[in-house]
Amino acid sequence: MAPKLFWIGLGNMGRGMCKNVINKADVQHPVLVYNRTKQKAVEYSTQFEEGRVEVVDSVAAGVAKADVIFTILAKDDVVEAIVDDLLGSTDVKGKLFVECSTIHPDTTARVSKKLVDAGAEFVAAPVFGAPAMGELGQLVGVLAGPEASVQKARPFFQGVMAKAEINMSGLPYEKALQLKVIGNTFILNMVEQISEGLVLSEKAGLGTQYVRDFIHLIFQGPFAAYADRILSGKYHTMDYPLFPVDLAIKDARHALSLAEAAGVHMGNLDVGLAHLEEVKQHQGEKGDIASIYGAVRAKAGLKYENEPTPGLE
Ligand SMILES: NC(=O)c1ccc[n+]([C@@H]2O[C@H](COP(=O)([O-])OP(=O)(O)OC[C@H]3O[C@@H](n4cnc5c(N)ncnc54)[C@H](OP(=O)(O)O)[C@@H]3O)[C@@H](O)[C@H]2O)c1
Repeated sequence: MAPKLFWIGLGNMGRGMCKNVINKADVQHPVLVYNRTKQKAVEYSTQFEEGRVEVVDSVAAGVAKADVIFTILAKDDVVEAIVDDLLGSTDVKGKLFVECSTIHPDTTARVSKKLVDAGAEFVAAPVFGAPAMGELGQLVGVLAGPEASVQKARPFFQGVMAKAEINMSGLPYEKALQLKVIGNTFILNMVEQISEGLVLSEKAGLGTQYVRDFIHLIFQGPFAAYADRILSGKYHTMDYPLFPVDLAIKDARHALSLAEAAGVHMGNLDVGLAHLEEVKQHQGEKGDIASIYGAVRAKAGLKYENEPTPGLE
């Protein structure tokens, strides 16, 4: 019989991921959903036909009814608090938890131990890809944990939420988070490089168009998408950032902590983190990782906010 599914966390990432599960996975309907701000979950549920989704009032209420529980939450303390809350109020024996948030590997080790000690199964399953990729079912999931548990989680990834999986079946949970945290340093450094390249091209009198062409022709993919997000000016106009500055700061700090523990100096990360902190100061929580461009502009004596490139507004 298809499993009963409970989804916790309907933020930028969770909304698209959960939608793909509701529409494509072999699950019992209604799929249960929970979000801290309940109104968001209620509004979200209206896009589906009646009987497909049910909003629950508490984490405990959802866990009690479900076989498989997905979590995708902002940060470490939120994941820990939700797990402590549900362990204090619900029997989790025999239930499978699939944890998709980007958190420190040590946090994953702690929460997985608590759940497994209480008789649950656990899969660490962070995802790579922006919210738009989540919406399209084009994420890359990184799955670690006991083989049998990973096997149960896989039907929700490739072909449902994800275009591919990095299968770490049989490896300790925290390995998936090591890869996720290291992977996100590539994104931070990419945005840093695009920002510096574009600012230099503007100040050196070359103009940004040729650098944009170069990025699109040589690097493509996320490089091209970030260059356009930057040149469109959206990095300083979005009310709801796509990769919020707070999450990017959390990821950079996790990477620095991993690097320090391993005795590795990651100088690029120091530069990226300093720019993210300037973004936070300038834009508050509306800042995006792409707003690093604004911080680099300001340092070069340009206005933090750019004029949108014609055609990209
Ligand atoms: N954005 C990206 O490009 C991206 C890509 C891959 C992975 N990730 C990772 O995926 C996770 C979610 O990211 P996101 O972009 O979806 O973030 P988001 O839009 O900020 O959503 C965060 C979710 O966590 C909930 N939350 C926050 N604080 C809470 C609290 N104190 N108690 C209970 N719930 C709380 C939010 O509930 P409310 O709606 O009530 O605020 C929301 O459901 C993060 O770990 C992030 O690093 C993000």
